[in-house]
Amino acid sequence: MEPTKKIWMDGKMVDWEKANVHVLTHGLHYGGGVFEGIRVYETAKGQAIFRLRDHMIRFYDSAKVIELKIPYSLDKLCEAVKEVVRVNGPKVDYIRPIAYYGTGAVGLNPIRLPTKVAIACMFMGPYLGDDQQRNGARLITSSWEKPSNRAAALNAKICGNYINSVLARLEAVRKGADEALMLDSVGNVAEGTGENLFMVKNGRISTPGMASGILGGITRDSILQLAPDLGFGVTERNITRSELFVADEVFLTGTAAEVLPVREIDDRPIGGGKPGPISLKIQRAFSEVTKGKNKKYAHWLDYLK
Ligand SMILES: Cc1ncc(COP(=O)(O)O)c(C=O)c1O
Repeated sequence: MEPTKKIWMDGKMVDWEKANVHVLTHGLHYGGGVFEGIRVYETAKGQAIFRLRDHMIRFYDSAKVIELKIPYSLDKLCEAVKEVVRVNGPKVDYIRPIAYYGTGAVGLNPIRLPTKVAIACMFMGPYLGDDQQRNGARLITSSWEKPSNRAAALNAKICGNYINSVLARLEAVRKGADEALMLDSVGNVAEGTGENLFMVKNGRISTPGMASGILGGITRDSILQLAPDLGFGVTERNITRSELFVADEVFLTGTAAEVLPVREIDDRPIGGGKPGPISLKIQRAFSEVTKGKNKKYAHWLDYLK
């Protein structure tokens, strides 16, 4: 990761190398924090942030789940996000807001601790690589399952939740795959380590529902709205691992991964072992929306100028 110029920290723009946290930060020890990942796109009208307000609403919702009080209004933080991108120039394509319990006690109870908030941005490029974006990613089913809804608050983007994804991703990379497929606590398909999953069979699109322990992705929601425009309904339902083995197509969605076709799961080719026509149609349609080429969804873009 290349450093950028400034990071917004607790209300001030701070130099990249000075944006540090105290070693006794609660969020560092116990994962008591929440974060977002937001994309910036280059359009004909300059840089635009994709679904900024929706991401920041999820940020506040995630904070609410862990009882973290964010001492800024939604409008103020949306403006701060835009300002960070403006200050750091045209090369950035990804924004990372984070809020976390600060220092003051070493115990687990965070309730009296101060809330710290930061917003950074950087260049990410294609999350899993150019080849994967074009030709499809290779997945393995992780031996680490998602915790049950009784064990974790999985609809919230809580820092501590992500150690489960980190374990799965380490396993996938060690086995030479691009990404891990995660099953939920009863063995149904949940999602990738940082992406939601869709499958296509006989022209029908399905995706796991919220009860499968997924994060309610903003990209997933965008596809749920976009797919009917292309003539496809999407059913939210339980999906089994072996259904994926006989699917015509599988694709992942996420802010970082965007719409990412899957060409192989557990060494088995999916469909023809290359991105299928419906995945490609959806990938193209999503890309047009993010580049400001679809008037219907113009309200999803927040222009910097
Ligand atoms: C676990 C998990 N699932 C799904 C997603 C996709 O969500 P979004 O499309 O909002 O980026 C993400 C990324 O934020 C994630 O971390």
